Amino acid sequence: MRKPFIAGNWKMYKTAAQAVEFAEEFKKIYRPSDVRVAIAAPYTQLWALKKAFEGTGIGVAAQNMHWEDQGAFTGEVSAPMLKEIGVDYVIIGHSERREYFGETDDTVNRKVKKALASGILPILCCGESLKIREAGKEKLFVEGQIRADFDGIPAEDAVKITVAYEPIWAIGTGKTATPAQAQEMCAFIRDVLAGIYGEDVSEEIAIQYGGSVKPSNASELMDQVDIDGALVGGASLKPADFLEIVHF
Ligand code: PGA
Repeated sequence: MRKPFIAGNWKMYKTAAQAVEFAEEFKKIYRPSDVRVAIAAPYTQLWALKKAFEGTGIGVAAQNMHWEDQGAFTGEVSAPMLKEIGVDYVIIGHSERREYFGETDDTVNRKVKKALASGILPILCCGESLKIREAGKEKLFVEGQIRADFDGIPAEDAVKITVAYEPIWAIGTGKTATPAQAQEMCAFIRDVLAGIYGEDVSEEIAIQYGGSVKPSNASELMDQVDIDGALVGGASLKPADFLEIVHF
């Protein structure tokens, strides 16, 4: 059975002190349930956040990493560095990284493989732009991303990946995909995965929806059969809002 998984994505917000402040406040109101919870924070906050969440079961995620363990890659951070400080998850291929930092399906695929080999669970993002959706090509596009990003990954590793379907037109715009639109694409992604790995494996892979998820729409999105969780940007920055989503 797939367990619901709600992850916050803080993007480039908060200092380490503000992250700890959030954690202390969140711990006061959070009650563990069968929902998996994690926060993806900037690198400088991860160590402090991991310590602040100790014993709560709340996971900590990086928002990117390099595919090599070490090397002359100024400004990059590697999987062993993240693993050493206890990072549980890593977001890979967020649309903002694809759009502004030259992330491609090839680099996404390498990073996902490295994360898996290092014992860090990948949250792999995919999703189409408004232009692609208006042209009616969103399924073709997302299928291409999924096939390229999972290329060469065996089934026993594929089940450790969480796919986050995030239509770019819904990110930070307040314009959420309708539950039906989100469900349709998440079901389609599961079909594509079933085509690659078989139905049993595809049924084990968690698929999140992301894009303007907020307390007021979380539960109807989470009610959809193929939506197993949410990747939450803006609404994860305040403890009370994030908690409401976690308790959808
Ligand atoms: P949003 O961001 O919830 O602010 O739309 C989601 C994301 O980019 O992961």
